[in-house]
Amino acid sequence: MRSLISILDFTVEELDGLIATAKDIIAHPENYWDKCAHKKLATLFFEPSTRTRLSFEAAMLELGGSVIGFSEASSSSAAKGESISDTAKMISCYADIMAMRHPREGAPYVASQAASIPVINAGDGGHNHPTQTLADLLTISREKGRLNDLTIGLCGDLKYGRTVHSLIEAMARYTGIRFILISPEELRLPGYVRYNVLERNQIPYAEYRSLDEAIGQLDVLYMTRIQRERFDSHETYERLKNCYILDTQKMALAKDDMCVLHPLPRVNEISVAVDDDPRAAYFRQALNGKYMRMALILKLLEEAKDPVKASADTGDLVYGRTCTNPKCISCVEQELPQIARITDAAENIHRCIYCEQKV
Ligand code: CP
Repeated sequence: MRSLISILDFTVEELDGLIATAKDIIAHPENYWDKCAHKKLATLFFEPSTRTRLSFEAAMLELGGSVIGFSEASSSSAAKGESISDTAKMISCYADIMAMRHPREGAPYVASQAASIPVINAGDGGHNHPTQTLADLLTISREKGRLNDLTIGLCGDLKYGRTVHSLIEAMARYTGIRFILISPEELRLPGYVRYNVLERNQIPYAEYRSLDEAIGQLDVLYMTRIQRERFDSHETYERLKNCYILDTQKMALAKDDMCVLHPLPRVNEISVAVDDDPRAAYFRQALNGKYMRMALILKLLEEAKDPVKASADTGDLVYGRTCTNPKCISCVEQELPQIARITDAAENIHRCIYCEQKV
């Protein structure tokens, strides 16, 4: 059964196909009004959301389908201790497709292994957020007219910002892409993205501490919120929370055709005065998310009509290595097998199959 857990689950051709479908939906919405008649989407949100949950729900309703689900863990049987796997099996009885957001890294992957319907990762802790990346890709395509030959700046919390990780994994597969990583030392990009994606594939990138020094080079500036809920130390969050604020003075240093993206919600990292700048694309980006989620639901439900049994994922796997990442789903669901993947045989690097941290 095809699911979307990581943006790497889809080829570049498939991503381009989703973008083409989304553009067709924008041009001819009436052609899609009943494409999902009698189909149900389950939205399982164990963590707060405005855009992702409601755009998924709007997407399914605009396709003629219906929606069931919950918006907080406390109103589900997770509050009584039900496991992710059992939850996924239950939802498979009631819906045709599910979107899951969870604070634990790897939880949607676990659900996809147990479910008999497609599972969409709607954000797992500080790990991945592939449907935000779908929104980002459509936005870059519409704002810049291309997905190649771009200098993309990512600014803010690159450690916990899951949207950044998925966007780099996606954009690194297009040609002529250069990344500028702008963050404090404590919030640098995690190793599994830096080494597995950028260095292994020799993608050009540079790191900056100052947004002022970097902004003039950029075609796209992707601002992020400092992710307060992911910090172990309140003092560290307080010290870093105001580290980058995009205001009209900084926008004056940028190219005339640079576009500003932000997955939202914002706190204070983009001044409200920037909203009136035509280069500010973040509200258009949120709308694009609905069209890409419509395209995604259509694709996964179409493929589910003829499910190809996924071949067992046995390559380079090692059993019994315990993950020590306290944010990993395997740290709380004790009956999950501890599995690692060898991501670099020469360096003997093993990464947890659920959260991708080194084990
Ligand atoms: N961008 C995003 O994931 O927003 P929500 O947290 O509101 O879903």
